[in-house]
Amino acid sequence: MLSRPDALPPLLAREIAETTGLSLPFVAEKLEHLAQDRFPFDCRVSMDLLDSTQREQLIEALLIHETYFFRHPNQWHLLRSKLPELVARRSGAPLVAWSAGCSTGEEAWSLAYLLAREGHKGSVIGTDISKSSIATAAFGTYRRLQRMGSLREMPDFALADFPARAGECWNARPDLRAVTRFMTLSLLEMPPVSHADIVFCRNVMIYFSSAIVDGLIRRIAAIIPEGGILALGGAEALQRTALFDPFYGDGAYLFRRNGTLA
Ligand SMILES: C[S@@+](CC[C@H](N)C(=O)[O-])C[C@H]1O[C@@H](n2cnc3c(N)ncnc32)[C@H](O)[C@@H]1O
Repeated sequence: MLSRPDALPPLLAREIAETTGLSLPFVAEKLEHLAQDRFPFDCRVSMDLLDSTQREQLIEALLIHETYFFRHPNQWHLLRSKLPELVARRSGAPLVAWSAGCSTGEEAWSLAYLLAREGHKGSVIGTDISKSSIATAAFGTYRRLQRMGSLREMPDFALADFPARAGECWNARPDLRAVTRFMTLSLLEMPPVSHADIVFCRNVMIYFSSAIVDGLIRRIAAIIPEGGILALGGAEALQRTALFDPFYGDGAYLFRRNGTLA
């Protein structure tokens, strides 16, 4: 298999890369590890030979779901400072936020919390390709651990509303549940909303091939009105796009949609 430099990536790796957008080297390397760990399927077969449960199980094993509330806190401080400007641009209409690749939901709930905390009306949609992650997200309950975990790093403005002691749980409040929904969706498909003022697509594109990233950025740009905000992960940058302008503050970057047509 891939341990031989001249070996072609297995058919299955190519099919998974095409289905998920994950880059072929990333998928091939992960499959290699799974094969070594005696994953119950032969990684040289075609996806067609796996039943739907096996396909899901295999793709699930390749995904990385690491996430937590208010991840990259500086970005949240910066976003918070820009909310009044966003609301003014929308003339007070409720804001729409999309957490694209939301994993187990912490990012989407952080967005819903922030809007409510700042007194702004709005709705949040969280999407992910992983069904099991979306089920956890929709459940909306997270336990604080001693270290790490979903509630590991709270910005000062949220401290009072989240558990301080290990073992305690945070349950999404009814007012946040009323404006937050989750759905299973691949980022290779069309966005789940036709308009979003804020899009978080963080720590997802790092695993995608550059062609997939280009298409995704164009689909995201098409639903963000001028002045809307895009957040990427710390290791992600926007290259070759004239659709967004970066801006800096609080030690973090965000991107603002400019007037260029998508
Ligand atoms: C590392 S997590 C990032 C979670 C969150 N955005 C954050 O930054 O904390 C990456 C998520 O992207 C999802 N993902 C990977 N490929 C995807 C695709 N093609 N469509 C939708 N979600 C995808 C994975 O299932 C995973 O939950």
